[in-house]
Parts: sequence; structure tokens; C-alpha cells
Amino acid sequence: SQATIGLIGLGTMGAALALNIADHGFDIAVWNRTTNVTRDFHASAGQLAARITPTETLEALVEAIAEPRAIILMVPAGQAVDDQIAALRPLLGPDDLIIDAGNANFHDTNRRSRDGSGPFLGIGVSGGEEGARHGPAIMGGGQRADWNRVAPILTAIAAKFDDTPCANWMGEEGAGHFVKAVHNGIEYADMQMIAEIYGILRDGMGYGPDQVAKVFNRWNDGPLQSYLVEISGKVAGAADKETGKPLLEVIVDAAGQKGTGRWTAIEAQHLAAPIPCIEAAVVARNLSSRRDARADGERLFGAGPVPMGDAAPTEDALENALICGKILCYAQGYEMIAAASEQYGWSLDLPTIARTWRAGCIIRSAMLDDMATALAEGGNRNLMFAPHFTKRIQKSHAALRQVVATGVAHGVALPALGAGLAYFDAMRTARGTANMIQGQRDFFGLHGFERFDGRKDQHGPWAD
Ligand code: 6PG
Repeated sequence: SQATIGLIGLGTMGAALALNIADHGFDIAVWNRTTNVTRDFHASAGQLAARITPTETLEALVEAIAEPRAIILMVPAGQAVDDQIAALRPLLGPDDLIIDAGNANFHDTNRRSRDGSGPFLGIGVSGGEEGARHGPAIMGGGQRADWNRVAPILTAIAAKFDDTPCANWMGEEGAGHFVKAVHNGIEYADMQMIAEIYGILRDGMGYGPDQVAKVFNRWNDGPLQSYLVEISGKVAGAADKETGKPLLEVIVDAAGQKGTGRWTAIEAQHLAAPIPCIEAAVVARNLSSRRDARADGERLFGAGPVPMGDAAPTEDALENALICGKILCYAQGYEMIAAASEQYGWSLDLPTIARTWRAGCIIRSAMLDDMATALAEGGNRNLMFAPHFTKRIQKSHAALRQVVATGVAHGVALPALGAGLAYFDAMRTARGTANMIQGQRDFFGLHGFERFDGRKDQHGPWAD
């Protein structure tokens, strides 16, 4: 009998996804550019091998799948996806569906959805290898009817929150990959804020890795319960396999990035959506790789962080600062999604997005269920103004301020937490300072300003 679905690209993520699909009782045909990879994959699939059809040519792959076909691409984002589509499409019928499950830039997905060559879905898959194998979060984009065709498979293999699958259709075209990009932006900011707290513990308070691990492990039992806090505790507690030293002491302090967080920051600028925590996290990664320059700086200006002594915040204050920063960062992410929804006519549903992120993905956390509820009640408004989160911010913003102020006073760089605090202060200042900007713009370029009495396109005395 023919396979229900096909998959191209048996790298780490593709192989894990194929096994997950087979594990849920679906017959799957697979193909990889290098045939040995396909053979090895099949040979090591154990009991699942019976559900997997390995194929050695693209033609054979297509033949092996029942019509109308659905084929998942798990190849590196970018040109490889276009090349694969170009090779595959001529072999397919008009109703055959191609699904790009890689980390595509959503602009590429928009283009591929519009090129008229045939049915196309772009789905964001989060959760790393473990998620792909045992239950990722899936953010679908494309035509809803196409999503419905493969939804039984995608919901079956997705992570479950209680019994609800974390696989949902987000919207048309690149909407799924767009939501995945914002997910990754939030992932960057969440990671950065955790790293900043680690910096205070290490440099300001003299905690060793084991003590840091203890703090994160404890927080993971409270309101900060999340995959990223959990693994941060594990990373801090781990020993190097070779030297036995704490692992954190052998890892170089320069962060890598494949680009999704950067895309989010760039897109936010196009949308004029303020996401300062996410932007700060991208900047921090860029800065982290300037190791030589940072060493020069330390020689010239003295070391940045100095011990905080009695001024050190309590662990409770640090916990609350992280809670507050996290809420503010999500508020920014959701606002950006709302802005894109309007710009692209996608009608993205914030509660559905929060629900999709509750399990399986890298940013999964206890807070997401509350966010889904709050956003549903709050009618897609900024998360800060959803009553449940308003209360949580009211309880935690003083701690964020204390932690950032203490960090600043002791030379600990806190770009993401600091950006969160500045965002918070700006968002509660009804009368800001942009009247000065407008005055300046009018002075040097006669750009005009609006007056409080309602008259627009007005000028200062220099215009006469
Ligand atoms: C996920 C991750 C995943 C991957 C990122 C890492 O949701 O499973 O976001 O997509 O880990 O590509 O991105 P960087 O290499 O940019 O950190």
C-alpha cells in the first residue's frame, strides 16, 4: 500500500519528524539527497521501519505516496528549499501539497505561496530534535483547506497540553513561519534575560555554577516554571566531560545564531512594532562575539561588573525581575504579531498562538496557559493591560527596577532587562517627550506638528 505522506531531508530534524509520524501509525515515504543517509535511517528505525518506505530517487518517492500527495520538506532554509521545490514540482499533480517545515523566512514563504505552482504550506516547527521526535509545537501557514488535509497527521504528532494538540493553523501564506520567527525572537529574549540574571548572580553576588543551578532549579518550581529556566539550571549544574570542571567555565562566552531572531528584529522595524527586549537580545548576541574588542575594553576601562556586596538584590527580587521582564517581552511579541496581522491581512489570533506555545516548543512555560486565557479575555490587547498580567506587573516592576538599577550601578550589562524596564516606563508615561522631537523636526525641516488644541500641520515661530 502507498504511504500517507512523504518527507524529504533526513537531517536531525527531518529524521526525528519522520520517526514521530511513523510512531503515530502513519505510513511515510522518505528520501534524502545522499542515499546512504536514507538507508542508514531506515536500517536504524527498529520496529518503525515497517511503516517507513525508503526511496532512492525523487521519482520513487513521489510514486510511493498516495494521491493527492503531501510531502514535507526538512531541508536547510533558503536556496535549498527553492531548489527542492523546483526539482519536485514537475513530478507532482496539481493537487499535491508541498509543506516546508524548516525555519524559513516568512517572506520566502509568502513568495512560495503566491508563485502559483501548486498547493504549499509553510509550517513553523519548534522543540528541537526532542520535540520533533516526541511532540513539537506546530505553527501552520497557508490555505486553510490545505492545512485541514494534513491536520490529522500534524495534530497527532504534535505536543499535547492536557489533551489539546499544540498544532494550529495561524493564517494564510507565511503566517506560520512569521509566528515561528516571533517565537524565536521571544526565545532569544527569554534566554538573554536568564543569562543576565546569571551575570548578576556570578559577577555581582559571587555565586558559583552550583549555586546558580540551585536558584534556577528552585525557580522552575514556581511562577517561572519553563523549559528555558529548567535547562538553564541543568546547564549551570553540568560538569565538563573531559576536565570535570563546571561546564559553564569551559564554554566560550560568544553566542551563535542562525538568524531567526535577527529576522524578527528587522521585521519589527518594518512594522514599526516596538520589541526592545528582543532587539536587545539580538544585539547582545552580536556583541558577545566581539571577544577581542571586549578584552581591549576591559584593559582600557577596567572590568565591567564589580561585586555588589550589601547592595545585592535578594533572590526573590531577581525572580520577580525575571517574571516582570518576561511578561514585558511577551507583551512586545504579541503586539508585533498583532501589527503583522493587520499589515498582511492575516487575522492572527493571539490566544490561539499562546495556546500553541503551551507545550512542545522552546518557550513553553507555565505562564503561557495564563496568557492564552488573558489574551482571550482581553480581546487581543497588549498583554500588559490584560487584568491578570496587569496585577503581576504591579507586583513585580519594583523588583525589575531595583535589579536593573543595582546592575547599572555595579557595571553589569543588562540590555534585555533594561530594555524591558524602559519599555515599561514609556508605556506608563501618558505625556512623553516626543513634543521635543516634533519641535526639532519642525525647526530644521518645517515638518509640522500637531497642537494639543487639535490643529495639525502647525509651525513654530521660525517658520515666519
Ligand atoms: C525551536 C528553535 C529552533 C532552533 C533555532 C536556534 O523553536 O526549536 O528555535 O528553531 O534551535 O534555530 O536558533 P539560533 O541558532 O538562532 O539560536
